[in-house]
Amino acid sequence: MKIIKLNAIDSTNSFLKEMVTDSVVENFTVVVAESQVNGRGQQDSVWLSEPFKNLTFSVYISFKNFKIQHKKNLLFAVSLAVYGAVKEATNLQISIKWPNDILSGNKKICGILVENSIQKDKIRHSVVGIGLNVNQTNFSEAIYKVSSLKLLTQKNYDLDALLKVIVSKLKERINQLENKQFEQLEGEYLKVLHKKNTPAMYKDSKGVLFMGFISGISKDGLLQIKLEDETIREFGIKEVSFA
Ligand code: BTN
Repeated sequence: MKIIKLNAIDSTNSFLKEMVTDSVVENFTVVVAESQVNGRGQQDSVWLSEPFKNLTFSVYISFKNFKIQHKKNLLFAVSLAVYGAVKEATNLQISIKWPNDILSGNKKICGILVENSIQKDKIRHSVVGIGLNVNQTNFSEAIYKVSSLKLLTQKNYDLDALLKVIVSKLKERINQLENKQFEQLEGEYLKVLHKKNTPAMYKDSKGVLFMGFISGISKDGLLQIKLEDETIREFGIKEVSFA
């Protein structure tokens, strides 16, 4: 595994994406930064992480024949890899919040940003960016929303060792993906999906509140929420939030 360690960078995802356009990059090359000055999150948000305390890294994955229609399975594979590594390292009760945040209770401990390069209906390569809150104990965000492994377990973690476990789990999951074990990936993902089958309040993009429970993920990767009248509504990433 090739690991490129940087101390300060704008964003490991941006750095790795530039590397890919400028040179030939080995599969599973990892770029890890001790500090990011412009960490990027999903939906144009920022990713804040205290320097030296956490993992902020990106992994390059190239595919030979991966059809865009199976994209949702890539998200399952990546989030299950991080889920498995965190579980193994901490034994915490954690879950995956759709599409790919890792939570402990209702608190986010990890965010994932997958950026795909697509050509002719195929994903040619992906840059998988992972921000995991590990040894940070002070947060500027509301503490009821975020947490870290240290806050949850009162232990310090070796960042290099944790990084290696995550990347090795990622290789296993990508292998599963390349072997087209889609049903198995989806089944495992649904088992640990936050609020699956649990009634909760949601808000749609018009601000309308409704009760329902997450019942599954559609063929196209949309979140399915079953309403009280048994109908199922489907949502894309920006279209629904927990109320
Ligand atoms: C999110 O939950 O919004 C996704 C956060 C992803 C953050 C990671 S940190 C390493 C990589 N580089 C970035 O700029 N973002 C990802």
